[in-house]
Amino acid sequence: MTDRYDLIVRNARAATASDTFDCDLGIAGGRIVAIAQRLPSGAADREIDAAGRIVTPGGVDAHCHLDQPMVEPMRMADDFETGTRSAACGGTTTVIPFAAQVKGRSLREAVDDYHRRADGKAAIDYAFHLIVSDPTDTVVDEELPALVNEGYTSFKIYMTYDDLKLDDAQILTCLEVAREQGAMAMIHAENADAIAFLTKRLTQQGKTAPRFHGMSRPMPVEREATHRAITLSELVDVPILIVHVSGGEAVDQIRWARGKGLNIFAETCPQYLFLTQEHLGLDGFHGAKCVCSPPPRDAANQQVIWDGLADGLFTIVSSDHAPFKYDDPQGKKLGGEEPSFEYIPNGIPGLETRLPLLFSEGVMGGRLSLQQFVALTATNPARLYGLYPKKGTIAIGADADLVIWDTSTKRTITNAMLHHDVDYTPYEGIEVGAWPATTLSRGRVVWDGTNYLGTAGGGEFLKCGRPEAAKPRTRDGGWRSWTGI
Ligand code: URP
Ligand code: ZN
Ligand code: ZN
Repeated sequence: MTDRYDLIVRNARAATASDTFDCDLGIAGGRIVAIAQRLPSGAADREIDAAGRIVTPGGVDAHCHLDQPMVEPMRMADDFETGTRSAACGGTTTVIPFAAQVKGRSLREAVDDYHRRADGKAAIDYAFHLIVSDPTDTVVDEELPALVNEGYTSFKIYMTYDDLKLDDAQILTCLEVAREQGAMAMIHAENADAIAFLTKRLTQQGKTAPRFHGMSRPMPVEREATHRAITLSELVDVPILIVHVSGGEAVDQIRWARGKGLNIFAETCPQYLFLTQEHLGLDGFHGAKCVCSPPPRDAANQQVIWDGLADGLFTIVSSDHAPFKYDDPQGKKLGGEEPSFEYIPNGIPGLETRLPLLFSEGVMGGRLSLQQFVALTATNPARLYGLYPKKGTIAIGADADLVIWDTSTKRTITNAMLHHDVDYTPYEGIEVGAWPATTLSRGRVVWDGTNYLGTAGGGEFLKCGRPEAAKPRTRDGGWRSWTGI
């Protein structure tokens, strides 16, 4: 054991995904190097007293969008600097945004471009998921396998959005690569044709206000696509993660699949716990602030999501931070208008509020144990995407990414207190009982409860290992057992 530390966090009530224990944490070289009942006084250059405070692993937000190239004139409000600043102030110390392939272009080009966007800007550590929008033979046979080997071990597939969606044959092809390479496929499950049909009927009737966004993507649209995604993964015999699950009928499909022994993982987000379709109907055009896909549902569906968090249906909670300004011609008021719902950029900000909302309503509200909170927000995403145990836990050798929680003060969320570059928060006015008093990123204080102390470029790129759940397997088995080949 080192006897000199850069920092000691004293009197921590440390919580991991399995235990809570009282300890001092010794940090050197950005890592946790000692966990002891009592470390000697004077053994560190600096001490932080965490007496009376819970200390958790820094959050891993495994689904967020930062500076993602958009179809003009849309533009994301947060780049890597403002997005990671906001994340740090809300207790998140690792983000995994998306390097998105543009149709007709290569996946490698998207990755290189995304590195340029992140380099020198990120204040906390980051990895990349890929988005496969054009699975050509070269992408499937060469680029994707090579990128998985280089540490980009997860990719997202869309079943909707014209510029991103894949058909079922393309999805199967990509899932086969996930199987062979041991990558994690993340699926956005909504039925594109059904959405197009409903959107046409609604707009023909002049129903273009933000609240009709929800009606264009009702629960059956998500239920059908969730079931189809599960079926496609079953055919190839590969695990998948269904991202941003919004309500009961999609949950039913996942429960059914699990009951059959299928390896289906599920993610949900705070918007499906704290927002409802009522928010889409806010006065004037304000409902646009809550336009995201799938849309927020109703109170009964919120309860189903809480139940799924408590009983282990969900593996991770991510923000799906997709930041667009409200009063901006590149944001929700696209082109300076109040556009029909079909043109409102999809997505809401949430990097900074994810952990405080879930700690307050989940842990302090008695809906989740502290261990479940840590698992859902840090340990499981780190495991799922091959970053564990460097990230996502409090252990000797792990990065000293820590959150010291203040649970003694109630705060009302306002956009003014947040650090993103968005001009609103959908969670304005919600009271929370917990907020990070300190966030440490590899032993550096990046948030002290009042001030952001991080630096652009302080974050490092992380190569992901193979997801624990997705070991590489040959083509033998899987689809062969269905076809009898
Ligand atoms: O509305 C959303 N969820 N926007 C972000 C992109 C995505 O599909 O996750
Ligand atoms: Zn999505
Ligand atoms: Zn997303």
